[in-house]
This record gives sequence, structure tokens and C-alpha cells, in this order.
Amino acid sequence: MEIYTVTLIRGDGIGPEIAESVVEIFAAAEVPIRWEEAYAGLACLEQYGTPIPEATLESIRRNRVALKGPTTTPVGGGHRSINVAIRKAFELFANVRPARSIPGVQTRYNDIDLILVRENIEDTYAGVEYWQTPDVAESLRIISRPGSSAVIRYAFDLARRLGRRKVTCVHKANIQKVSDGLFLECFRQIAQEYPDIESDDILVDNACMQLVMRPERFDVMVLPNLFGDIVSDLCAGLIGGLGVAPGGNIGNGYAVFEAVHGSAPDIAGKGIANPTAFILSAVQMLHHLGLHGDAERIENALRYTLVSGIKTRDLGGNANTREFTKAIISNLPPCAQVRARNEPMTEPYRTPMLAPRSTEGEGWQTVGVDLFFHALQPPKDLPQQVGRLTLRTLSNRGVALEPNQRENRYLLNWYRARYLSEQPLHDEDIAEFLNRVTPCVAWTTLQRLYRTHDGIDLFSPILVE
Ligand code: NAI
Repeated sequence: MEIYTVTLIRGDGIGPEIAESVVEIFAAAEVPIRWEEAYAGLACLEQYGTPIPEATLESIRRNRVALKGPTTTPVGGGHRSINVAIRKAFELFANVRPARSIPGVQTRYNDIDLILVRENIEDTYAGVEYWQTPDVAESLRIISRPGSSAVIRYAFDLARRLGRRKVTCVHKANIQKVSDGLFLECFRQIAQEYPDIESDDILVDNACMQLVMRPERFDVMVLPNLFGDIVSDLCAGLIGGLGVAPGGNIGNGYAVFEAVHGSAPDIAGKGIANPTAFILSAVQMLHHLGLHGDAERIENALRYTLVSGIKTRDLGGNANTREFTKAIISNLPPCAQVRARNEPMTEPYRTPMLAPRSTEGEGWQTVGVDLFFHALQPPKDLPQQVGRLTLRTLSNRGVALEPNQRENRYLLNWYRARYLSEQPLHDEDIAEFLNRVTPCVAWTTLQRLYRTHDGIDLFSPILVE
């Protein structure tokens, strides 16, 4: 029988208490896993000057699978988030959060069984933000074809592997036509490669309402990062909240599993933390490794324990972490059929990443520019024509400014002027344009506007009121 080596990071706060619970249960269940302890968190910051030492990253690199306890991120300044650092270091592009009702945990529904797959690296989490003027902050929502395709393909692979019936793309492509439009386009393309799995899509606002009213409508969901962040907490709420919500971060060849909750400093050291979410994260890790039999056995023992009324305080019981752990161990079903259900993973999960493409290769032409600039009043001296470029629209807060409407609107001190050309532009045209406008306006950003060779505009039209 193959023994898997897994990196174990116990973490801060309640981390060591709930990690010990998993270690004891896995030992009792004779799960074929050997832990390699590695360290991250506040203690490392004091000892090594970094919250995540190189040796820890090296351990994850070597073992490819890690189980991580919660770590504390000091608010305001301080060190960067360990989770974000690990996610970026291993390009963990998918955050997988199952939400399955837990018997004995009182909620509005008792039959929730969803898996939410959230893009984990891009979107507003790329963290590309700017002050454009003293009144205007801008955040770029970066949605890419390779990034979206990787997470969407993972969602379909997961659905197939777990025998789920449907994958739903959750988006806002009616408003974010370009960025969410791309996410949805990738989804529709990839869905065709999985004819055995149903696929559909839904707007994120409607998805929230439907999740509360008819959660059975969903099975596996895939979402861009920010929507995924919000909707996954909604799903955690459906099954009883933070204490029971597990998660895993998946990348090409690497996977790091951790509960959704944090280090709970308010109850740390008291021995009363609920290890359920962390145990379920470890169960998710076993499924990832193909050890389905071991995973089901431990999950069944956990569920049986909760049904029998043994719960930690946060769930209305009076067991402490140790008592709860002991009860789970005593409820482990016999081991006999477990190994037969295991289909150990021989190779780490990998998804093909799309090769980068060039605008030239795709036949894109520059047909204009959007010039963003700071001004206290609508500018009077913007050139109407620069070389081939003609001023078409001046806009503010995304909406076109007609000269006779300016009186009635509140105008921000950040404007956009759209210049278009009848002919494709060259770099010299852009350079000439910048030379000409720089003395006229305090510009902050110049954005190229592309058109495909068959005439499709690759930028959104400016809204007209
Ligand atoms: P938190 O999740 O640690 O705690 C929120 C509330 O839920 C607290 O009242 C806590 O006692 C309770 N709670 C959480 N997990 C519990 C459990 N297993 N059993 C019983 N009660 C539980 O969130 P908070 O307070 O916002 O963050 C505390 C620290 O954790 C912060 O430094 C934060 O940055 C960090 N954090 C780390 C995460 C990670 O490492 N994955 C994720 C979220 C937060």
C-alpha cells in the first residue's frame, strides 16, 4: 500500500488544537499518510523574520499536498497574508469549497449538497489598484482566458470524478460584458468537452436568491474570484457557518487544504474549538488523493458523532475538542471495505494551461484610444483631431457627456476621452497623439482600443444616458 507524505502546517490560535484532532483521527483510522511537519505563522515571524519560511515552501514543493491550519494575519500593515503568499507561490488557481448539510447541525435546510469552485488568483484579487485623482480610486478586475479556462476545466474534471450531474457558471456578464463575458465564453467552450455533464449559467444576483430559496437547483458552481468569495460564505451559512466549512486550494501539481475559518484568537488555547471544518478539509484532501474509502469512513464517523448529539459549544453542544475527537474515533466504522473504495492518485492533478497568444497573431488592430485624465471641469481645449484620431466621446463615470447635459450632472474630476480612427493605427500615431495631448490635459491612463480583423470591437461602448 502506498504511503503518501503530506505537509502539515498546524498554524496559529486554534490551529494546533484542531490539527491534533486530525492527526489523532488519521492515526486511529490507519490512513496511509505520513505527516511532514512544517511551520508558518506568528511564531515563524518572530523566529525567522518571515511568516512562511523557505523550508515550509520547500516541503510543499516536495510533497505537493499540504494540510494547513489557520494562521493569523495582523490587521493594518504587518506581514502579508500567508494564505495569499502560498496561493501565489504555487499558483493555486481553484478554491474548492464543498457545502454539504451536516446532520445534527441546525440550519434552514437539511439536504444541501453543493460544491463551489472559485477562481483563486485573478479578478480584483490580483490587487491592481490605483488612485487616479484625490476623489477617484480604481481597481482592475483582471479576468484571463488561461486563468478562467484552468479553473473551469478543474470544475468539470471534479464533477466528472465525483459523479456530479451539473456545473453552473455564476457571473455578471450582462453588465461586465467584456470580462465576465470572457469567463462565460470559456465556460461554454469547455462545457462542450464534457457532454456527460449538464451545464448552465446564471447571473450572480439571481444565484444568491436561488441559493437561499431553491438550493437544490445547484450542484457544482464555478465563479470568478470575488463573486466566489461572497457566494461561498453564503453557502457556508446554508450548512451552519464557519465551524463546519472546509476548503481546498488546487493548482497545477499542488494542493493545499484548509478550513474556511481563521485562527479564532478569542477561543485559542481553551480546548473548545470545533475541529469539524478542519477534519472535513482533511477528508477533502483524501478525496483529492483518491483515498475515497478512507475519506468516507472518517466523514461517516464525524456525521454519526454529530447526529448522536456530541457537539462542540459553537454548535450548541458541550463537548470540548478532545472529547469530540475521541467520540469520532470510537465511531469509526470497520475498516474492511475501505481500501477497495480507494483509487490512489498516481499523478498529481494537472490541467493544460493555454499558450500565450499575441495581438498580432490574432489579427487585432488598434483603432482608437481611451484617454483618462484628471480635470476639475469638462475640458475645453481637448484637440478634436490628432493625426488619424478623431475625438468621438467625452465621458464621466462611464456615461457620455452631451454638452447640453453637463449642467444637470455631478461630474467627477476624472474624465475619459474616446478617440477613434477610420484606419488601423501604428505606434507612431500613438506617440504623436501623446505628444499632442500631454500639454493639454493631466492624463492618467492611455488605453488602446482593439478591433478584430473581422470587425468586432474588443472594448465596451460608452453608455449614453
Ligand atoms: P475567525 O474565523 O478566526 O473567527 C470568527 C469567529 O468564529 C470567532 O468568534 C471564532 O471564535 C469563531 N470560530 C472560528 N473557527 C471556529 C472553530 N473552529 N470552532 C469554534 N469557533 C470558531 O475569524 P477572525 O476572528 O476574523 O480572524 C482571526 C484571525 O484569523 C485573523 O488574524 C485572520 O487574518 C485569520 N484568518 C486566517 C485564515 C486562514 O489562515 N485560512 C482565514 C480567515 C482568517
